[in-house]
Amino acid sequence: MNVFLPVKQLQTFLICFILMTISVSTRAADSPLLIKNLGEGHCLVRVNTSQNYLLLPVEDASPDVRISMIVNNKEVKNFDVRLAIHKVDYFVPVDLSDFSGKTVSFKFKMNSNDPIRVNLSPDNTACCKEMKLSDTFDTTNREKFRPTYHFSPLYGWMNDPNGMVYKDGEYHLFYQYNPYGSKWGNMNWGHAISKDLVNWEHRPVAIAPDALGTIFSGSAVVDHNNTAGFGAGAIIAIYTQNSDRQVQSIAYSTDNGRTFTKYENNPVLVSEARDFRDPKVFWYEATKRWIMVLAVGQEMQIFSSPNLKDWAFESSFGEGYGAHGNVWECPDLFELPVEGTNEKKWVLLCSLGDGPFGDSATQYFIGSFDGKKFSCDNQPNVTKWMDWGKDHYATVTWSDAPDNRRIAIAWMSNWQYANDVPTSQYRSPNSIPRDLSLFAIDGGIYLQSAPSPELLKLRGVSKKRSFKVNGTRIVKDLIPNNEGAYEIELSLKNQQAEIIGFRLYNDKGEEVDMQYDMKEKKFSMDRRKSGEVNFNENFPMLTWTAIEEDKDEMKLRLFVDRSSVEAFGDGGRFAMTNQVFPSEPYNHISFYSKGGAYKVDSFVVYKLKK
Ligand code: FRU
Repeated sequence: MNVFLPVKQLQTFLICFILMTISVSTRAADSPLLIKNLGEGHCLVRVNTSQNYLLLPVEDASPDVRISMIVNNKEVKNFDVRLAIHKVDYFVPVDLSDFSGKTVSFKFKMNSNDPIRVNLSPDNTACCKEMKLSDTFDTTNREKFRPTYHFSPLYGWMNDPNGMVYKDGEYHLFYQYNPYGSKWGNMNWGHAISKDLVNWEHRPVAIAPDALGTIFSGSAVVDHNNTAGFGAGAIIAIYTQNSDRQVQSIAYSTDNGRTFTKYENNPVLVSEARDFRDPKVFWYEATKRWIMVLAVGQEMQIFSSPNLKDWAFESSFGEGYGAHGNVWECPDLFELPVEGTNEKKWVLLCSLGDGPFGDSATQYFIGSFDGKKFSCDNQPNVTKWMDWGKDHYATVTWSDAPDNRRIAIAWMSNWQYANDVPTSQYRSPNSIPRDLSLFAIDGGIYLQSAPSPELLKLRGVSKKRSFKVNGTRIVKDLIPNNEGAYEIELSLKNQQAEIIGFRLYNDKGEEVDMQYDMKEKKFSMDRRKSGEVNFNENFPMLTWTAIEEDKDEMKLRLFVDRSSVEAFGDGGRFAMTNQVFPSEPYNHISFYSKGGAYKVDSFVVYKLKK
């Protein structure tokens, strides 16, 4: 995403309301909530309460209003909220609990460049009419598309996974988070903890914006040797701070990620480059240095440090290699064995807005790393994609995962339409976790993404079937009480079919059509009739990938959740991740063949339940 384009956040409004300035107070002067209109898109809200939250009404189609929170005449926080003008889509909570017994003031200010400017008064804006104080904020799910076994934030906007680190039996997942709305903005690090990558405990915001800027993507490490001096075993987060420029900062936690303290001498790394972000840090034992890979414009830069505070530039990689249609983002660099050999290779992940089906996708490079420089084995003009769907971005892996595992997770959306998907309490989820490995074929080395074994625990009872398909074969009612979360496991043998097809569908006629095209050697997934597709012109799409030649048997696992289908071919040799928004779960499947027959050696549907 190009974060410097404000238009991304601001909807186009055709009308411009500038009403007369009338100073209005909602309630008597001693009321716990007092609103004073200051005219032309400005207002002052004064709160004097022991209640925990000020609930702000949001309308996703409204422009951002800058809110400055003031206590004892000092600004303690500022953030943007799309305050409701015409109607309330949902509320967001502002936590007042730190200021109990004090007067808290909020200055609201509409952007003077916005085409829409209204008087922020109870007379003419829903936000001033409906704003309220409360002891609780209800996070009960009210979204039919909320996934059941994919991670999604309780409320608010989420993009990239950040700071993924494993320590003392816990997987930490931090993420780009807007707690004040379900569109991108106000970047904080949200936080969740899991023992099994599937059940997540939602934690409070871990790292919030400060005077150096909002908190963009980054990573976290465990400082086993106390190199930084914050204590042996401290979790240290390394992240970008975004304001007019981008700089790198660190924060540490000595209570296993429950709370973070920002380093007083932040930032630890600056540059003249404009796009300078998303640090991924790991320990390189041979040189006893921390290595940071940073996305800088359209390349990756590598830095090293003895202590996470002092960084030295080592090298850069990227010019002439892979896809370059946009800035590079969210790097990762790690070593993996190549299956069936004694060889190990380094893998460099790189997300960018120039994927095979438009905008967001993750490419990767295979090569070597000597502690200073990454050298790529790929032919420069070859681009390798990690996933062949449209909704797999910002893919990064866990530091210190047990058993030498390399576990990745991606943000399951695409910048083309992420802000428009038909949910409102939250936007958007992550992909399922995937265990990465390397395999060699036809002289090349490729990344394999297999669903993490923890997902097997979700499987409920199932029935195995096998049959031949010559024409059409329909299996109705895939699982009893289908709530939209299931896995399909298929093993297919071709018997001269040109097309091996299967269509997931529901009684509303919505469908996801998948095909192996045996002539063209392709696997495809078509979501053009999958349900709600018209919220953005870039959403309807058929995605496809090349498949390996002449396999006797093709294996496929399909992970279906309430708003996604993820396909994994042959143990993850190809992966395809696409969001879908059906009005009811796909409950039937129609197998079809063209030009010949095929055999479904095994067809198993597992209900998935946490
Ligand atoms: C990728 C990205 C990162 C940035 C973050 C901001 O999706 O643009 O480069 O740090 O999102 O939210």
